[in-house]
Amino acid sequence: MKDRVFIFDTTLRDGEQVPGCQLNTKEKVEVAKGLEELGVDVIEAGFPVSSPGDFNSVVEIAKAVSEPTVCALSRAIPMDINLAAQALKQAKRGRIHTGIGSSDIHIEHKLKSTREKVLEQAVAAVKYARKFVEDVEFYAEDAGRADVHYLTQMVEAVIAAGATVVNIPDTTGYTLPWQFGAKIKHLMDNVQNVDKAIISVHCHNDLGLATANSVAGIQNGARQVEVTLNGIGERAGNTSLEEVAMILKSHQDLEVDTNIDTTRIYPMSRLVSRLMKMPVQPNKAIVGKNAFAHSSGIHQDGFLKHRENYEIIDPKDVGADGSSIVLTARSGRAALRHRLENLGYLFDKSDLEPIYMRFLEMADEKKQIEDEDLLSLITQEEVAE
Ligand code: KIV
Ligand code: ZN
Repeated sequence: MKDRVFIFDTTLRDGEQVPGCQLNTKEKVEVAKGLEELGVDVIEAGFPVSSPGDFNSVVEIAKAVSEPTVCALSRAIPMDINLAAQALKQAKRGRIHTGIGSSDIHIEHKLKSTREKVLEQAVAAVKYARKFVEDVEFYAEDAGRADVHYLTQMVEAVIAAGATVVNIPDTTGYTLPWQFGAKIKHLMDNVQNVDKAIISVHCHNDLGLATANSVAGIQNGARQVEVTLNGIGERAGNTSLEEVAMILKSHQDLEVDTNIDTTRIYPMSRLVSRLMKMPVQPNKAIVGKNAFAHSSGIHQDGFLKHRENYEIIDPKDVGADGSSIVLTARSGRAALRHRLENLGYLFDKSDLEPIYMRFLEMADEKKQIEDEDLLSLITQEEVAE
């Protein structure tokens, strides 16, 4: 029996914080409905205290979806918690996500406080949020850089105060996977009553390690992972939903499952990219334009012999159109023959040779050869033969 990993999507909160990516309420509801179809367990819909627009979006999302839990962010202060609770009133399942810094850097330089006072504030915030909802998630901001003993104390205290989920964020994307994994293991082994809450991981991508750190967290006992579509988010972004979903699906040996309908990934990636006016980088894992494009001769030949020679994911499994063979000056005869066959032209080895030579000349000049270029390469005599 596999363990379930809950997918907490924060595209509409951490993702939407990116400058230029702001959505209006109608667009946010459209994304939320798509996330529901995708099968996410929790939608973090916004930060109600931040603006009336964000408050309203949380209200509308809470009304629009029924399956996922709808979550609202707050700092560990009553004013934020009040507004989060108010925005979630119509949610079938509402969660308040409250929290405070846990690293000495944050405690000293951001909160200008002490470990003791911060601990008290954390406990008070969880108790206060529990007055409004049964499901309270606590985030220990900058846990990646926090002292592990203090973090253990904090996690234990907020669970005792009633937190149902405890989020361990690597807010600054600083940790290495083995360090982050060891931190989660330490909490799982040392926090009293850790089984009364779900441990969640929330990683940022400043060193390109967000997904690796999240997976290390899951391997060590975290059972919720916080993600965004296309990995959008503050600075270098957050752990991307599509990467985690496909890692957990491809590596059955991790013995965990999610509820994600992976065939909805590609359309959702495109929806978010279009609405947020945030293009997906071509080489982005899973959802980039080139994720299933084969362009060098050796790879194309191997791919055409057997797809799995060069693909670990079937594009249909993520809802993408399919694999493609891109013709460039690095392409070989096998790829050229394949593309010509797709256009309805069959050539034997000797007839293909002069076409291949003309193809290489054109590809050196044009960089990428499209179907209409190919047609212009074939002479009438060659077609007739
Ligand atoms: O990165 C972070 O620490 C956050 C918290 C607000 C959860 O986004
Ligand atoms: Zn974050």
